[in-house]
Amino acid sequence: MSRGRRVYEGKAKILYEGPEPGTLVQHFKDDATAFNKKKQDRIEGKGVLNNRISEYLFQKLGEMGVPTHFVKRLNMREQLIRAVEIIPVEVVVRNVAAGAIVKRLGLDEGTQLPRSIVEFNYKSDELDDPIVSEEHITAFGWANPQEIDEMIALSLRINDFLSGLFLGVGIRLVDFKIEFGRLIENDMMRIVLADEISPDCCRLWDIETQDKMDKDRFREDLGGLIEAYREVARRLGLFIENRPGDGAGPVLVSSK
Ligand code: TMP
Ligand code: ASP
Repeated sequence: MSRGRRVYEGKAKILYEGPEPGTLVQHFKDDATAFNKKKQDRIEGKGVLNNRISEYLFQKLGEMGVPTHFVKRLNMREQLIRAVEIIPVEVVVRNVAAGAIVKRLGLDEGTQLPRSIVEFNYKSDELDDPIVSEEHITAFGWANPQEIDEMIALSLRINDFLSGLFLGVGIRLVDFKIEFGRLIENDMMRIVLADEISPDCCRLWDIETQDKMDKDRFREDLGGLIEAYREVARRLGLFIENRPGDGAGPVLVSSK
């Protein structure tokens, strides 16, 4: 597979030019950051797990009619995606109070919210991704009202689907962050799900024990991040195991 010039490097991923125009290669790194890079580490094997988990979730969402940028997984750390123009807004869906909303509104962590709540954050590392309203998004031209409606509708469908999927394997989907992009297809502009969905950008709690199985293990110095991500993969039926003795972290032993 030919991989072209590096076009973007973010905190957890790198994008390279893909083999054909309109495609990119999305590479998952082992780097972990939190609190906007104030906390940084390398966690061996995280990229492999996120690549596989995100592939699985994007495939499932695609099968139920959610348009996504995902084309196929290329190898342990890379997937082929369609190039999109990323909308500079992070969409957060919350089912249970945790993280920022706990501080902002003085809620108790773990409180079930009255209904699923959709929030927007402006994508800006310098500003720490501040929460914004639809007014800001339209006034500053980050997305138009129709695109906002489309993002909300897709986010709620994604939430319903993922909540059920995780519930089926004993995991509570507390909240998650997703990103959307614009794709031009047959002269039509479409909004598609982009970026990734992995334990890096979700809160996932074990139904029985309430154990955190997501990046909060890193944010809160709980340890055991790789073990938790691997358990998420295992419950989803994805077989990823350690290659004995070579220190290379998890490898894929089976792929669909
Ligand atoms: P928050 O409680 O910090 O707003 O995060 C809500 C969810 O969104 C949580 O699962 C983490 C995820 N998230 C990211 O992945 N990246 C981000 O930049 C933000 C703000 C949230
Ligand atoms: N803001 C994101 C988080 O805490 C990522 C980062 O800060 O690097 O999950």
